[in-house]
Amino acid sequence: MRLDKFLCDCQIGTRSEVKKIIKAGRVTVNGTTPKTADIKIDEAKDIVCIDSKTLKYEKYLYYILHKPAGCVTANKDNLHKTVMDYMPNECKKDCSPVGRLDLDTEGLLLITNDGKLSHELLSPTHHVSKTYYAKLDKPVPQDAVRLFKDGIDIGDEKPTLPAELDILDEDFPSARLAIYEGRFHQVKRMFKAVGCEVTYLRRETFGSLTLENLPKGEYKKITINEITGITETTK
Ligand code: URA
Repeated sequence: MRLDKFLCDCQIGTRSEVKKIIKAGRVTVNGTTPKTADIKIDEAKDIVCIDSKTLKYEKYLYYILHKPAGCVTANKDNLHKTVMDYMPNECKKDCSPVGRLDLDTEGLLLITNDGKLSHELLSPTHHVSKTYYAKLDKPVPQDAVRLFKDGIDIGDEKPTLPAELDILDEDFPSARLAIYEGRFHQVKRMFKAVGCEVTYLRRETFGSLTLENLPKGEYKKITINEITGITETTK
């Protein structure tokens, strides 16, 4: 790969910025200072330094964001803040959210520039598990557990895939729901089908990924190894 592409992939700067950095003699490849940006390097073997600091090649970036309510799951929006406003600059160029959470939904969102993985995780054939905590306007009827388990008609061509409902509290109506697909407004529509309105929604897990103690509005960089676990939690 060309040295300038390598430096861009490492989020050092734009093509023209990294060319200037190389010209200024701030970059070394295996201890020698290249004169031009078009030399070829082997990203697996060569040691590339900038200002004497060794660069670690990362073609793909993966982050978890604890999305707050009030921002849209998009790269740009004219009206609202977007989830990307919470992300570091290195992530803003090529990364996008995997799937979407509604404007008023909080919780775990995976953000990456790995388009292939993103496509796989969103594909209807990969039934990645997603767990949601919901508050409701009234107690969830007990038969919702069986209805969700069997698959419920939410007005689409097909009923939903079997889902696991755990009714948590009747005095302060709340529930936890695990689903294995990602239809538009799916959780809200499932509860609506049993007569309940969702008043608060938070996604707690996405496959093997969890929010742990990540505060709302903050992100965490994760590794591909943590992601590959995602598909192991499918049904
Ligand atoms: N289901 C919904 O209804 N909304 C979300 O944001 C996510 C899942």
